[in-house]
Amino acid sequence: MVCLGNICRSPLAEGILRDKTNKLGIPVFIDSAGTSNYHIGEHPDKRTVANALKNGVDVSKLKARQFKVSDFDQFDTIFVMDSSNYANVIELARNKKDIEKVELILNRIHPRSNMAVPDPYFGGEEGFQTVFDLLDTACDTIVVTLQK
Ligand code: 4NP
Repeated sequence: MVCLGNICRSPLAEGILRDKTNKLGIPVFIDSAGTSNYHIGEHPDKRTVANALKNGVDVSKLKARQFKVSDFDQFDTIFVMDSSNYANVIELARNKKDIEKVELILNRIHPRSNMAVPDPYFGGEEGFQTVFDLLDTACDTIVVTLQK
């Protein structure tokens, strides 16, 4: 799961998908990263932590890191939150195989629409619930494909 800062959207996506796969006993390794180095080592944004907890997901212990080229080798799928994350990750791709691993996460619920998970960082509290609902729905769809 990749966003810009790795303190709002992608750690939440990581936490939501981990909860769902744990509950269903699906063995999968999930992690998240930011394309920027702005918040390396920090826990998720306080507003993300609070909103996630309200929705039953604990992301308080996660720590931000920066996306790195070796992530293309570590992961089968790299979900990005918006087209800017997509461009930043694709810039690091070494070949077609790397590029093919990168997907906009909301394309799982709205195929080929290239919709963004809106960045809640500079907005109000309600933005965090919008992000939660979008990622929760997307992760439900991801879980279905993991079960096949
Ligand atoms: P995220 O949100 O990419 O969802 O983690 C942001 C966090 C920090 C900044 C931008 C977006 N920032 O500019 O510091």
